[in-house]
Amino acid sequence: PAAADPHRPRYHFLPPANWLNDPNGLIQWNGEYHMFYQYNPNGPFHSTIHWGHAVSTDLVHWRHLSIALTPEAGTADEDGCWSGVAVDDNGIPTLIYSGNRDGEQRACLATSTDGLVTWQKYGDNPIIPVPPPDLDLVQYRDHTVWREDDAWYQLMGAGLEGQGGTVLLYRSTDLRHWEYLHPLLVGDAHRYTPIWLGPMWECPDFYSLGGRQILTIAVWDHQPQYSAAMVGDYRDHRFIPEIEHKLDYGDRHFYAPQSFTDAQCRRIIFGWIHEGRGAEAQLAAGWSGVMSLPRVLSVGSNGPVCMQPVPELAALRAEHTHTAAIDMPSGQVVVLPDVSGDTLELIVELVPAREGLCGIMVRRSPDGSEHTQITYDAALRQLVVDRSHASLDSTTDHTMHVAPLILEPDEPLRLHIFLDRSVLEVFANDRISITSRIYPTRADSTCVALLAERGEAQLVGLDTWQLQMS
Ligand code: FRU
Repeated sequence: PAAADPHRPRYHFLPPANWLNDPNGLIQWNGEYHMFYQYNPNGPFHSTIHWGHAVSTDLVHWRHLSIALTPEAGTADEDGCWSGVAVDDNGIPTLIYSGNRDGEQRACLATSTDGLVTWQKYGDNPIIPVPPPDLDLVQYRDHTVWREDDAWYQLMGAGLEGQGGTVLLYRSTDLRHWEYLHPLLVGDAHRYTPIWLGPMWECPDFYSLGGRQILTIAVWDHQPQYSAAMVGDYRDHRFIPEIEHKLDYGDRHFYAPQSFTDAQCRRIIFGWIHEGRGAEAQLAAGWSGVMSLPRVLSVGSNGPVCMQPVPELAALRAEHTHTAAIDMPSGQVVVLPDVSGDTLELIVELVPAREGLCGIMVRRSPDGSEHTQITYDAALRQLVVDRSHASLDSTTDHTMHVAPLILEPDEPLRLHIFLDRSVLEVFANDRISITSRIYPTRADSTCVALLAERGEAQLVGLDTWQLQMS
């Protein structure tokens, strides 16, 4: 049934069927990109999790490989091989992941001797048998591992009861024996600005970028909330954050991200794009969960972490349409006769009226009863993905995604949009992104339109490509 589903993406990565969540073990090895992911081969729901595996030379075309990690009865991962990372241990590919047993997660290790295809689990798993005894922990799982001059370091995601999310710092000389040092950072779950960081942090990622230190975390409060980024300094094995923000404003539709550095020294990140329809619809469809497009990370001029789609995605471009400049009268929807489809890349430049609103609609039905709006409100200085009319199916997620976006005087709104049937990834002005899911019910909900309110706006230009997997 999965292949027949009209909501199934065409060019985003996902397994042939069944369940996917977090990206895991991202690494480039002998020139090839390896992606592992949280995978349930037995159905489109989260259950006994395995590690799926795929390989690519260009980050766009992926070849599925056999399952890399399978839970094993009577061992530390008997109920699931949960999230983790891959490192190069002096030429030996090594995975560190969370073994799930009896509702608790413990660090486990596996190595490969055949180029990352099959994996041998370490005989003494779990490698960290118990959490630090003096801490009252909400949850305790997920890893990021890196090398410093003297040793390996590892962060474990966790939460301190009554306080907030945290990442616990460990040190090792051989990746198999770990000494607990201290929390790298403890968040305050009672503080709500600039963002709420919640009671527990999943899937930490920690690296230097553009002269700063970055910590990204997945804020968990009994279910996925959103991914957050912190920018700051790393000194004496402590992290001092200065800036905190949501990494992507689509909240759970860009969750548990992981990044790695490739041979070109780019820091590339993937996130799990959660579904926006209910469990029953996912069961009927036979699949659930999509990997985001690969994005290049950078640190913006005034400090935050930014993500841009990798240039390799241009390989997907097929038929191209250019729409020249036009004025967009206030209060009107301008349907574009030459532009339509459900697998599109759009690059559009718009100039809003001084305090006006302008934007673009995708997946619009000819009668307008279905449409998804991507608009910029110059008065509120917000970019919004409005899904209130995205689908006539009221059981799908209709919440709005809102991101702060302050345009400089004379800076046009520049949207870079990837539409892949039910997946919508919006990048604005090289600095913010909103990832979303939409499930139009009508086969003819494929129109694209422009709109302006509270004053005339200008279309500077629109380039559209039909995207196709070759
Ligand atoms: C994040 C997460 C991780 C965990 C994995 C289990 O989505 O909950 O904390 O390791 O998924 O599949």
